[in-house]
Amino acid sequence: LLPESGSHSWRSPSNIALVKYWGKKENQIPANPSISFTLDTCATTTSLEFKRLKEAGSDFSFELFFEDKPKESFKPKIRKFFERIEPYCPYLKQYHFTIRTSNSFPHSSGIASSASGMSALALCIMSLEKEIDGKMNDEYFNRKASFIARLGSGSACRSIEGDLVVWGSHKKTEGSSDLFGLKYPYEVHSLFKNYQDTILLVDKGEKQVSSTVGHELMHDHPFAASRFEQAHKNLDELQNVFREGDLDRFIEIVESEALTLHAMMMTSLPYFILMRPNTLEIINRIWAFRKESGSHICFTLDAGANVHVLYPESEKEEVNGFIERELVAYCQNGHYICDQIGFGAKKL
Ligand code: PMV
Repeated sequence: LLPESGSHSWRSPSNIALVKYWGKKENQIPANPSISFTLDTCATTTSLEFKRLKEAGSDFSFELFFEDKPKESFKPKIRKFFERIEPYCPYLKQYHFTIRTSNSFPHSSGIASSASGMSALALCIMSLEKEIDGKMNDEYFNRKASFIARLGSGSACRSIEGDLVVWGSHKKTEGSSDLFGLKYPYEVHSLFKNYQDTILLVDKGEKQVSSTVGHELMHDHPFAASRFEQAHKNLDELQNVFREGDLDRFIEIVESEALTLHAMMMTSLPYFILMRPNTLEIINRIWAFRKESGSHICFTLDAGANVHVLYPESEKEEVNGFIERELVAYCQNGHYICDQIGFGAKKL
């Protein structure tokens, strides 16, 4: 039975990949498996108001407000998302939707909001579907939320259920799938509990190259096959690393993954560089500090210039002192965000 009207709200986090997803096949199928830390502070809050139409529309009917203002420029992306998920959510054209969304992180901070934004909207839609269905269990709810979030933005499927999420079929991860994210099913050492992520905002501008274009460029990329194989191997190895709490190997894998992601960008055709001079300054200072202090600080990068600084909670004081002293100077307007591992989306 279709409800006449109502509203659902979700707060959904961003995530940061440790093994990167870069390259995809048809229908948002990843070319290799990835794993991410779910974040806590960086999140999108979305509410979906729905009102049943007298008769089903021929097109999707919705309006969108971003931080309380109508936002026409986001609409094509949402329309495309609706088109992609309609085969799995056939009730969408029965409703008029009002979508209100806002981010916890500053607008145009260079932090990708597609993972948190698309997962929050997917969850709101699933809450409506749950009302229609009447008897949906949590496992199905989360799995389908991740499935449809993936159709909005690949990495969004890793933002439903944290703390560690694997997406993409991987031989050694039982239950892993190309179609949805899976909460990491194996033992994780307590050293990774409350792992910290300080995000240094090096360049808050729009990216010159979208991730959609970046993924495309992995077709016919000279190093694609070996890169995809490397991702599988890194994910294999992380199982041992997480179980044993092997931070030295963790650092090697995570930093290598970040640099490989950017190496793929630099070696595609056309080639491009998303790191900025300050990105490299920060990386060099992290390496020097690690060497002299013995700290387990490391970095990872998204498809942009900002640097995610990762470290165990037990080193928080020492690393924060270092960040303040040496790294903040390389951030645009001195801006950075303190975050840590989170546990997934929440219904409001
Ligand atoms: O979800 P997309 O299509 O925006 O791709 C994200 C890709 C990276 O952030 C660079 C890596 C990842 O696995 O999140």
